[in-house]
Amino acid sequence: MAELLASYSLALDLGLGQPMEHLLRAWQIADRLADHLETDVDRQSLFYISTLAWIGCVTDAPEVAAVFGDDIAFRADTYNADVGGLSGMRFFLGHAGAGGSSAMRLRSVATVVATGGRRIASGIQSHCLTTSALAGELGIGSGIGPALQQFFARWDGKGIPAGVGGADIDLGVRLFHLADVVEVYHRMSGVAAAVEVADARRGTQFDPELVDVFRAHAAEILPDDSNPSDPYELIRSAPRLAVPLTECEFDEALTALADFTDLRSPSRAGHSRGVSQLAGHAAELMRLPADVVTVTRRAGLVHDVGLHGVPSMILDKSGPLSQTEIERMRMATYYTERVLVRPEALGRVGAVAALAQERMDGSGHHRGLLGSAIPVPARILAAACAFRTLAEPHSGRSAMTAKQATTELRAEVRAGRLDGEATDAVLAASGSPSKRRSGPAGLTPREIEVLVMIARGATTNSVAHQLGIAKKTAGTHVERIYVKTGSTSRATATLFALRNGLIDPMDL
Ligand SMILES: [Fe+2]
Repeated sequence: MAELLASYSLALDLGLGQPMEHLLRAWQIADRLADHLETDVDRQSLFYISTLAWIGCVTDAPEVAAVFGDDIAFRADTYNADVGGLSGMRFFLGHAGAGGSSAMRLRSVATVVATGGRRIASGIQSHCLTTSALAGELGIGSGIGPALQQFFARWDGKGIPAGVGGADIDLGVRLFHLADVVEVYHRMSGVAAAVEVADARRGTQFDPELVDVFRAHAAEILPDDSNPSDPYELIRSAPRLAVPLTECEFDEALTALADFTDLRSPSRAGHSRGVSQLAGHAAELMRLPADVVTVTRRAGLVHDVGLHGVPSMILDKSGPLSQTEIERMRMATYYTERVLVRPEALGRVGAVAALAQERMDGSGHHRGLLGSAIPVPARILAAACAFRTLAEPHSGRSAMTAKQATTELRAEVRAGRLDGEATDAVLAASGSPSKRRSGPAGLTPREIEVLVMIARGATTNSVAHQLGIAKKTAGTHVERIYVKTGSTSRATATLFALRNGLIDPMDL
């Protein structure tokens, strides 16, 4: 789990506008700072807080982009400011409408002023909530969820939730707050700059006691770039982090992280799960060995992890992309490769995942490989990703029907870009019921079945009757579906199912 989260944190670094390993370095700083404290710090929690805390920012990326333009540039700049109270408002106003026309700037400034920053606050709250929900989905210790809810709190109480401050903030979170910022200043400008920023925000953003300890030991705490330590080695040697996952837990964790990647863009909900199911089933239909089927399926889950490095405003742009924007999109598969290169368990998966945009005629990216150099699982993945992308609304166009997407894919085969056999298998897989066997929000196959029934108006009693299960069991399924989908009524559950492609409107 720790190795997987370490890799995923590299993708989060990209979304924060920082070089890869920023969060891992921040974790090491926080961990070393903890060595100098008299209070005991839960080191396992500290690692999870450091690698997970920022993950929720993907959920408000589209909202951030709507007001502040390039969400990645905006995140990168937040490190330069003490974003609390009035100075926070000044920071937000200074960035409203960034990169847009003067009319857009004015509109965005007006939005920030008119809502008194409430929209920003609600975005941040959704950030915290989804992050702690993910910790729950990953089965990470129960202490982490509440701590992650305090990620935007500040020592002076001027953060979110308002009024929560001082020692009420989890110690692990306080350590990470300091480490996250000093890592950037140390990397950019050295030890003195790191100490200076810690001092400048002592008692506002940061716990004054932690700043004092940091100042006294900064040179030992900050990473020594002439003798870098390997974070993966550190993880493997830490007994509380070196907890192995079962194959099933590994799949569940990859799926949870896949959903978070897809949250970067509303039109992509369920994309990675969908590609994974389609590609895995197609690999089975092609009678590939079981281990290759598993690699293909897992590659589907992680193939778009590199999209964390692409600003939300490019992912959601309606209309054609500029040349510069296309170049940024093309970087995504390279990022995917770099993010997944380290842990052994992800080695083969990452190698396939990074080839999702290669094309048989060499016109793909980022390597521009020719067909003979593209392994079969990657050919399947390319066809599966292309199919799902066409079936989703993108760049201002509405989603294609399965029939239209099939026609498009066949044209790609004729043009020599997609492999014929792999595409046939993907199209065969897309027509089989297996495409609905699992879904977003961690719904199990049975829960999806029940959700579809509820959407069609079934009561708990009739669900129990139709499935031949006890009323109590049916009731438990319904409760779990509501919790997982965040629904409060049949209507919202139905909307969830429709938005996630769990119900074919033609069936209703
Ligand atoms: Fe994709």
